[in-house]
Amino acid sequence: MRIDFENSPTHEVLEAKLAEFAQRLADCDVVILSDYGKGGLTHIGDMIRLARAAGKTVLVDPKGEDYARYAGVNVITPNRAELREVVGRWRDEADLRQRVEKLRTELGIDALLLTRSEEGMSLFTADGVVNEAALAREVYDVSGAGDTVIATQAVMMASGVDLADAMRLANHAAGVVVGKLGTAVCTLDELRAS
Ligand SMILES: Nc1ncnc2c1ncn2[C@@H]1O[C@H](COP(=O)(O)OP(=O)(O)OP(=O)(O)O)[C@@H](O)[C@H]1O
Ligand SMILES: [Mg+2]
Repeated sequence: MRIDFENSPTHEVLEAKLAEFAQRLADCDVVILSDYGKGGLTHIGDMIRLARAAGKTVLVDPKGEDYARYAGVNVITPNRAELREVVGRWRDEADLRQRVEKLRTELGIDALLLTRSEEGMSLFTADGVVNEAALAREVYDVSGAGDTVIATQAVMMASGVDLADAMRLANHAAGVVVGKLGTAVCTLDELRAS
């Protein structure tokens, strides 16, 4: 049994981390902000502004109900439950598309990449929606699949791959890791083979 006793990070810690972020930004092509809702991203607005001002691509794995804090990033990658918390329950695909488009334009975000577990994923942009079916032949362990998606999407975008092609590759990488036990990685060879 594991019990976590959690405290919010102090003002001093957050200030130091923000300074470190600003300093290390120059060495990065792309920034991934994975929001666990534990206070580490209290200054996410400043982090996004700094990164975007430096011309960096920013991707966010969101959490909670307040997506205004992610305004201006390039991509957010909610799963179904996370998106439902923000836009409500959708009736069908057309309804989903409308709700996402409203959110996307309100926040000034290029793309919303919805990960849909066994249903694969959908990419919503100004050009419309692209769907990819899940690829896993056999599913052993889905933990960490969302991390694989945002990591692959980010690396591909940093390499100059366009949004939709990056999403296809991210879907392949997710298909590889859910076929392994535990939180697993997808190697470049495995991604090529897939
Ligand atoms: N049961 C499944 N069958 C096939 N593919 C899956 C399955 N679950 C997840 N995947 C793949 O992994 C991707 C991400 O999964 P999911 O939508 O569950 O992310 P998540 O809830 O953020 O995961 P995490 O637990 O890492 O936070 C999916 O878009 C899909 O490509
Ligand atoms: Mg997730």
